[in-house]
Amino acid sequence: MHVQPAYAKINLSLEIVGSRPDGYHDLVSVMQTVSLADRLRVAATPDIRFTCSDPALASEDNLVVRAARLLRAAYDVREGCHLALEKRIPVAAGLGGGSSDAATTLLILRRLWRLQVGLDELQAIAAELGSDVPFFLVGGTALVEGRGERVTPLRDVPQTWLVLAAPDERLPTATVYGGLTAESFTGGTTTSRLAEAIDGGGALTLGRNGLQAAAFQLSPGAASCFGLLCDLTGGHAILSGSGPTSVGLVASWTEADGVAGRLRARGYWAEAVRTIGRGDDTR
Ligand code: C5P
Repeated sequence: MHVQPAYAKINLSLEIVGSRPDGYHDLVSVMQTVSLADRLRVAATPDIRFTCSDPALASEDNLVVRAARLLRAAYDVREGCHLALEKRIPVAAGLGGGSSDAATTLLILRRLWRLQVGLDELQAIAAELGSDVPFFLVGGTALVEGRGERVTPLRDVPQTWLVLAAPDERLPTATVYGGLTAESFTGGTTTSRLAEAIDGGGALTLGRNGLQAAAFQLSPGAASCFGLLCDLTGGHAILSGSGPTSVGLVASWTEADGVAGRLRARGYWAEAVRTIGRGDDTR
């Protein structure tokens, strides 16, 4: 029985740099895994079975099952597995929960099925499952480019405390991308400079998020939550991915816990989290 965490991600910066003929967008982002995590238990069984703590997600089209079936077909595997997912990361929240579950499934099954498959090959399967999945095979702090398939690991940032906060609602990624305007597109330099600073040993800082205006237009609740988080962190906040979750940068666990408590008192979902580096990741 293998039990592994599937960490959530945040985007320290995310710039949309162009539209693509395939309907996706080219982006430049710095992504970071954080301590909020789903748990995935995997045991060997003859066929593929999937169970989930959230019954609404326990279907055959869950990314976990799709990852297992894709890997099994690609390498003609005859064995199966029972995948049991315990959800803690909010769904469609900009935290990459489903993508992280899928990447963790690929990593665990590569071991369970003793596959001699390199990271490059696994990345190609990950990219088929979703734009954020390749990042989660690497984790820690990374520069992500293209549709999401080009992942360059960056030096781990010093452990940093953050607060995640969101209204109780889901924001489908495709809908937010559909709301982009000409002003949403930027050149990517804010994000590449941030990546260089981190790789040079700098502390974690926040850049800009090109999806933010479109997300706030669709979700006034996400905009209010972000506003409150800005007030509580001296303006050190950013929307994560396509939202509705915002991330606030704080100086300590005590501050993170205090800010999360005040957000919960105002009716928001909130969690104090710390950064997870590749060195902390046991997958
Ligand atoms: O790849 P994934 O299924 O996560 O993407 C969900 C949606 O987000 C896509 O259908 C697309 O509308 C949008 N997207 C995009 N450009 C990206 C990633 C996602 O337009 N690089």
